Amino acid sequence: MPQASDHQKNKKSIYILGIESSCDDTAAAVLKDGKIISNMVANQAIHEQYGGVVPELASRAHQQNIVPVVDLAIKKAGIKKTDLSGIAFTEGPGLLGSLLVGASFAKSLSLSLNIPLIPVHHMKAHILSHFIQDDQMQVPAFPFLALTISGGHTQIVKVSSYFDFEVLGETLDDAVGEAFDKSAKIMGLPYPGGPLIDKYAQTGNPKAFKFPKPKVKGMNFSFSGLKTSILYFLQKQTKENPDFIKNNLEDLSASIQYTIVNILMDKLKIAVAETGINRIAIGGGVSANSGIRNALLQAEKKLKWQVFIPKFEFTTDNAAMIAIVGYLKYKEKMFGNLNTIPKARMAL
Ligand code: KG4
Ligand code: ZN
Repeated sequence: MPQASDHQKNKKSIYILGIESSCDDTAAAVLKDGKIISNMVANQAIHEQYGGVVPELASRAHQQNIVPVVDLAIKKAGIKKTDLSGIAFTEGPGLLGSLLVGASFAKSLSLSLNIPLIPVHHMKAHILSHFIQDDQMQVPAFPFLALTISGGHTQIVKVSSYFDFEVLGETLDDAVGEAFDKSAKIMGLPYPGGPLIDKYAQTGNPKAFKFPKPKVKGMNFSFSGLKTSILYFLQKQTKENPDFIKNNLEDLSASIQYTIVNILMDKLKIAVAETGINRIAIGGGVSANSGIRNALLQAEKKLKWQVFIPKFEFTTDNAAMIAIVGYLKYKEKMFGNLNTIPKARMAL
């Protein structure tokens, strides 16, 4: 008679390869039963000199990177291609040319290995990155509120299960990452400026300059007015003193970050009040920002929220988050097929 432990031993592990290519990072990761065994990313430095991502250059770089990145992810995982159970890839939203590279590659590999192909929504993956099995990360209980903050998105989402998402509020214009990047650009900082504003803000006074908050009702956001007010303010100041930005970079960065973080926190407070849910999970590139992290940790103490902050490596675009959704969908047999086409725009 087989013992329980024998049964455990014979249980086949699920190996999922995740591929992410929605913007300017080519990434591949392998998960074994939901745990990361490799997580690779090739960043594209080429865009820095243009002050933003150039779609055509991004797709070309993905084309060059995808084979070596996937190859390395499989090697580092210490497995063979034939051990893989399924292949998850980013279906959208993102830059179409970039998505096509990852999708075509994933399709060919799944066809040649005869294993399931699993399309994944990029923003759902940012949210579900909290479920990557990692000893240092706590997993939110359902339902929880997700604040997705990236270069392309700003949303408050009610998450009731792995597959049940309801958008409660979103930006009406720029995404919060764009607000950081565009403000940085106005100050003459290179792309992406978000991390630089965060860096200079560390030693600046957040109340040195006051920028107006948008008057948008409910849980929606707006960031385009902030960018315009920063532009006009700096145009006026530099006319009087050409060195104004250089002399005030820390205070400007701290004040801009303070304004943006306050806008996000105000909307989260409304969402908590309206839903009665006080479990907050953040995701997306901007969740690396120290200002929002600190504000949430404060809210945890003062407002008794339960806050879930991803590890740094899971905040910006990565393939482990694609692979975890692949794993969750694999278990439910939620597969795609060769007719699945990537989409630049996709509702949550
Ligand atoms: O999620 P992500 O890697 O790509 C998109 O899907 O957009 O997010 C990139 C965005 C950029 O706008 C970048 O400036 C911003 O995240 N970002 C930050 C920080 N780190 C990345 N913004 C503010 N503070 C940071 N520390
Ligand atoms: Zn992203």
